[in-house]
Amino acid sequence: MLRLLAIYFAVTTLIDAKTCPTGYSLVGGDRCIRPLDNGLYVQGNLSSLLPGMMSQCEKEGGFLPIVRNAQDNTMFNNFAAGVVKKDFIFIVLGMVCNTKTKRLEWEDGTKIAYIQPPQPQFNPVNLTFDCVEYSQHVVSRVNTSDWLLVPDLNTYSYTFLCETKATGTGTADLDEQCGEFDKMTTNVVDLNKPCIKVYTESVGWREAELKCTQDFAMLASILSDGENSYIRRSAVGMGMVGGIHIGLKASEGSPDFAWVDGEKMNYDNFGVPFPVAGGGECAAMITDRPEGYWMNVDCDAESLPYVCRRPVFPSTTCPTKPPKANEQFFAPGFPHPDIPCEYMLTVEAESLVELEVLALEANVGSDYLEVFEGASGVPLANLTGTTPAPPDNIIRTVSANVMRLNWKPNGAVGVRGFMLSYQPVTKSP
Ligand SMILES: *[C@@H]1O[C@H](CO)[C@@H](O)[C@H](O)[C@H]1NC(C)=O
Ligand SMILES: *[C@@H]1O[C@H](CO)[C@@H](O)[C@H](O)[C@H]1NC(C)=O
Ligand SMILES: *[C@@H]1O[C@H](CO)[C@@H](O)[C@H](O)[C@H]1NC(C)=O
Ligand SMILES: *[C@@H]1O[C@H](CO)[C@@H](O)[C@H](O)[C@H]1NC(C)=O
Repeated sequence: MLRLLAIYFAVTTLIDAKTCPTGYSLVGGDRCIRPLDNGLYVQGNLSSLLPGMMSQCEKEGGFLPIVRNAQDNTMFNNFAAGVVKKDFIFIVLGMVCNTKTKRLEWEDGTKIAYIQPPQPQFNPVNLTFDCVEYSQHVVSRVNTSDWLLVPDLNTYSYTFLCETKATGTGTADLDEQCGEFDKMTTNVVDLNKPCIKVYTESVGWREAELKCTQDFAMLASILSDGENSYIRRSAVGMGMVGGIHIGLKASEGSPDFAWVDGEKMNYDNFGVPFPVAGGGECAAMITDRPEGYWMNVDCDAESLPYVCRRPVFPSTTCPTKPPKANEQFFAPGFPHPDIPCEYMLTVEAESLVELEVLALEANVGSDYLEVFEGASGVPLANLTGTTPAPPDNIIRTVSANVMRLNWKPNGAVGVRGFMLSYQPVTKSP
């Protein structure tokens, strides 16, 4: 009976992902959003447009965007930016005038408790006005990540989004794949999109790199325009308009820039004339312009907020394929890595395997990462506790082109296990 139950649960968790009604996109794992107008934006005034759009959305069981925090705001902005190709996007928020209190409130009858912070030089929108006498509504401006009060009679281009409920219990929730990081989603669900997190403290580039690693991530690589915009909007949404460090650095003794996480440099968004010679060996994104151009900066002198990136959490089973060289891999079940697994890291015949322990968090006395020479050779290291300090964080095979890893957690209670990466190195003659 127990076994049957176990199978039953395994099957239901697989199929019970959240789903959306037709026409809606699943965003952030559990929210369903669609643009109400096929043209994606409509020209007109709110006194004529708003009632029709609201009742259409309510008919579909939803509301126009209700924004309760900065994350909600970023989520709607990112969704709109993904579907509406336009410089200025005004999303009409789901606010209505309560004729008794004469104040705006959310369409679902709740109080407006959160107000999106404005750009530094401006004041936040002030909602303490008589909405019966002055008919105005709030629009969210995507490219500046702020809000604007608009009189109902003013004519603009407006975007109307409708959010409705997802069905299913959502055990395959995308949120679970990124933990406290944000899943990089646009208008479609893409399971392979990475997780990112913007840190608001300003530090030098090297310290930013270290802090990302301590958080089991890497200073972010950026692989497309879509990713660049997503990261820029996330930063601007948190008020980071003065630039952010990204995971790009000039290679040792070369003017060529390379991603610190080993990704190939197929996408380049340096703004002309950058990188400038002598301008610095690290890169930052300029966040106060929609293009999100990059510039090179002095690695240590330039103190900026930064953005970290990591892949979605690995599954809770041991991987069926060995990890690839130069790619970070994590303890299975991360961030609750209590599953023992064995890995064979193999490089071409004439090379050695060099393992880098990027981050380690294991309970001393119970969780171990054993490292062996070859498939069945002698132990090279037996790691536990926290990340070994250099040079002990680099472990190399002596003569074999195979390294065996054995992760032996005993509960791994309250620790995140490991983030590792390996690469081939040539045998010294
Ligand atoms: C908002 O407007 C009201 C009415 O004009 C005013 O009394 C109040 O001080 C304003 N609040 C802020 C924070 O400016
Ligand atoms: C608002 O839009 C409606 C419909 O397009 C139009 O009839 C009305 O004159 C507009 N009002 C203003 C003040 O522009
Ligand atoms: C918003 O877009 C306009 C036009 O592309 C641009 O001039 C402005 O700098 C942008 N603002 C931000 C904060 O991106
Ligand atoms: C690693 O250390 C643990 C605890 O001392 C021990 O049980 C285990 O056998 C060691 N592994 C190897 C390969 O030496």
